[in-house]
Amino acid sequence: MENKTNPIEIRMGLREEYLPMLMEVEQACFSDPWTEAAFRSELSNNYSFYVLAFEGERIVGYVGGMSLYETCDINNVAVLPEMRRRGIASALLDRFFAEAKERGAQQVLLEVRAGNTAAIGLYEGYGFKPYGVRKNYYQNPAEDAVLMVVTLC
Ligand SMILES: CC(C)(COP(=O)(O)OP(=O)(O)OC[C@H]1O[C@@H](n2cnc3c(N)ncnc32)[C@H](O)[C@@H]1OP(=O)(O)O)[C@@H](O)C(=O)NCCC(=O)NCCS
Repeated sequence: MENKTNPIEIRMGLREEYLPMLMEVEQACFSDPWTEAAFRSELSNNYSFYVLAFEGERIVGYVGGMSLYETCDINNVAVLPEMRRRGIASALLDRFFAEAKERGAQQVLLEVRAGNTAAIGLYEGYGFKPYGVRKNYYQNPAEDAVLMVVTLC
């Protein structure tokens, strides 16, 4: 896929050398970002998998999750603010879903801030439906989580 300036390449797999760039994306995208230690622990988790979007050698977005038997969880999806609305998250999710199916997942679950209309719009486009709410699940700021699920066909 291409944006208006440089081509975007979608690659599978988290590597230790990617962690500093991944942290830049994380900190630019979330008020309560994951720590580098949290990402580092993902490197040795066989159930976790990451799909990364590169502009040249720079990471501009990622999706990470965990697939265990028939269920896959999306931990996070993030795209740098200046790179949004160019289909990068969609390209990441397309690849993520293909990998989840390869791993035997039959459904994908996630939680999202109730006021995150961009992410909810993205997920609805993939057929995710809400199935519950966790009150005050998030901090900084406190906010409910909407739980969403889609069945893979
Ligand atoms: C949510 C996020 C990952 C979307 O990334 P993106 O690369 O801009 O998404 P895409 O360009 O692939 O958008 C695909 C569709 O999602 C929906 N969408 C994306 N951003 C939207 C917005 N700001 N408002 C409404 N709908 C939006 C639209 O339906 C869009 O399709 P369209 O552009 O044809 O209308 C990005 O906004 C982001 O990183 N946000 C901060 C981190 C975050 O909240 N992550 C989710 C945590 S659960």
